[in-house]
Amino acid sequence: MDLPTYWSNKLSQYSTEEWSKKPNIFATEILKYLPNTGELLELGAGVCQDSIYFSSLGYKVIASDFIPPIKKHSEFDYQVIDLNNSLPFNDFTFDIVYCHLGMHFFTIQRTKQIFSEIYKVLKPGGIFCATFNSLTDSEVKNSNKIDSDYYQTPSGLIKRFFSPESLKQILPSDFKIILLDSNGVTIKDGSNKLIRLVCQK
Ligand SMILES: C[S@@+](CC[C@H](N)C(=O)[O-])C[C@H]1O[C@@H](n2cnc3c(N)ncnc32)[C@H](O)[C@@H]1O
Repeated sequence: MDLPTYWSNKLSQYSTEEWSKKPNIFATEILKYLPNTGELLELGAGVCQDSIYFSSLGYKVIASDFIPPIKKHSEFDYQVIDLNNSLPFNDFTFDIVYCHLGMHFFTIQRTKQIFSEIYKVLKPGGIFCATFNSLTDSEVKNSNKIDSDYYQTPSGLIKRFFSPESLKQILPSDFKIILLDSNGVTIKDGSNKLIRLVCQK
C-alpha cells in the first residue's frame, strides 16, 4: 500500500467535511490540563484542525505529519515528520506534545521509542496528550490480526489498537498519568470510545 497516497486522499476527503473545520472534542477537553501559554508540537496533524485551534488560543504551534499540508497555514509552522524516524528536536523543547489518533501505524518497538522521544523533547513538567482507537472498536472485529494489538484493516491499513492497560505498559514509567480512560468521543463518529491520555513529564 502506498501510504502517502492513501493518507493524502483521506485528508483531502476530510478537508471537505464540516467536522474538520472545528477542533476535535478532545482538544477542547484538555485545556484545563495545559499551561496557558507555551510551545506545542502536534504529531500526525492531518488537516490541522487542532493546530489551528491551539494557535488561536496563543500557543506557539508546530504542526506535523508525514505528508505535506493539504492547505497552507500562516498561523503556525508545519514540518513534515515521519514518525518512523526519530523526532528532529532537541530535548526539553516543548511545553506540550499533542496527537489525535496519529499513533496507530507503528510496530510495538517503534511505538515505545516514539513515546520515549516525546518524553525527551518535553520540558520538565511538560504535558503529552493523545487519543487512540481502542481494541474494543468494531473496526478490530473486521480486521485481520497480524500481531498482538496489531491488525490489517479492511482498507488494507496496518494499524495498532490500544487499551488503557496496554498504554500503561508502553509509556515511559517516568510519565505521571493525569488522565487515562476510554471516554473520548469524536465529532466524526459520536459512538467511538476513544482512549484519552494526558500525562506529565
Ligand atoms: C486518523 S488520521 C488523524 C489525523 C488528525 N490528527 C485527526 O484527528 O483528524 C492519522 C494521521 O496520521 C498520519 N500518519 C500516518 N502515518 C504517519 C507517519 N508514519 N508519521 C507521521 N504521521 C503519520 C496521517 O497522515 C494522518 O494525518
